[in-house]
Amino acid sequence: MSDKQNKTQQPKNIIGVFDSGLGGLTVFKHFLKDLPEYNYIYLGDNARLPYGEKSQATIYEYTLEAMEFLFKKGCNLIIIACNTASAQALRRLQQEYLPKHWPDRRILGVIRPLAEEFANQKIKKIGVIGTKSTINSGAYEIEIKKLNPNIKVEATSAPLLVPLIEEGWAKKPETKMILKKYLHPLKTKQVEALILGCTHYPYLLKEIKNIMGRRISVLDPGKIIASRLKKYLDKHSELGLKSTTEKTRNYYTTDDPKIFKDLGEKFLDAKIVNIEQVKITEL
Ligand code: DGL
Repeated sequence: MSDKQNKTQQPKNIIGVFDSGLGGLTVFKHFLKDLPEYNYIYLGDNARLPYGEKSQATIYEYTLEAMEFLFKKGCNLIIIACNTASAQALRRLQQEYLPKHWPDRRILGVIRPLAEEFANQKIKKIGVIGTKSTINSGAYEIEIKKLNPNIKVEATSAPLLVPLIEEGWAKKPETKMILKKYLHPLKTKQVEALILGCTHYPYLLKEIKNIMGRRISVLDPGKIIASRLKKYLDKHSELGLKSTTEKTRNYYTTDDPKIFKDLGEKFLDAKIVNIEQVKITEL
């Protein structure tokens, strides 16, 4: 990308929301509900999902391509809804890529706001479930410990859940059995709260709450992230994202738009109208 090209990309008042697939719609749903006055573009890199099994270098490269796509579409701010991409790519994007290529734009992730929410609760032990990559990165543990060194973090990966959900198997008894197996060690270790560290898992929120029991706090990450985003937007009027009459809601996927729409509407709990397939590798 050349500097000349950069200057021709005029920022618009659009918020980009990125996920490796459909999972980010569980977060986006809350943006639409709680912050409807903004313009949004959602990008799901469905063709290359799952990110959770890939190396840090690959996740960085994929996420960078997604950022380029969204910035070129005129996004002023991008929320990386994907925990895996937040864990493995966000810091480098903020420290190296943004200052060099898009110094006046912003990228935010989901791990810090979720860690803050939970670290502020009066609890001693927190459980985290996420993809292999997110759990192996230790990102939640690092952020929580920075905020409250006394909290013990028990983290476990649940790699089968994403493919099962993407396959439309979320409500099958087999999925419930697998979920129970993943959550059992965290229950045994008596965690007091559970962080759903993957955008797909809120789709199983009811089932997870049932398995964990009433005494364990399992919050919907999308709600928390939306409320944090509201505070951020209120503080950063210089980004020029405040409401317009336009109300853009455009969806892009790197895979089949029909599959995205069919399952995506279940994640979003709303109709998906403007959906287009895109290539983000040749920008
Ligand atoms: N969306 C990803 C996350 O929140 C999980 C899906 C994947 O493995 O690509 O971590």
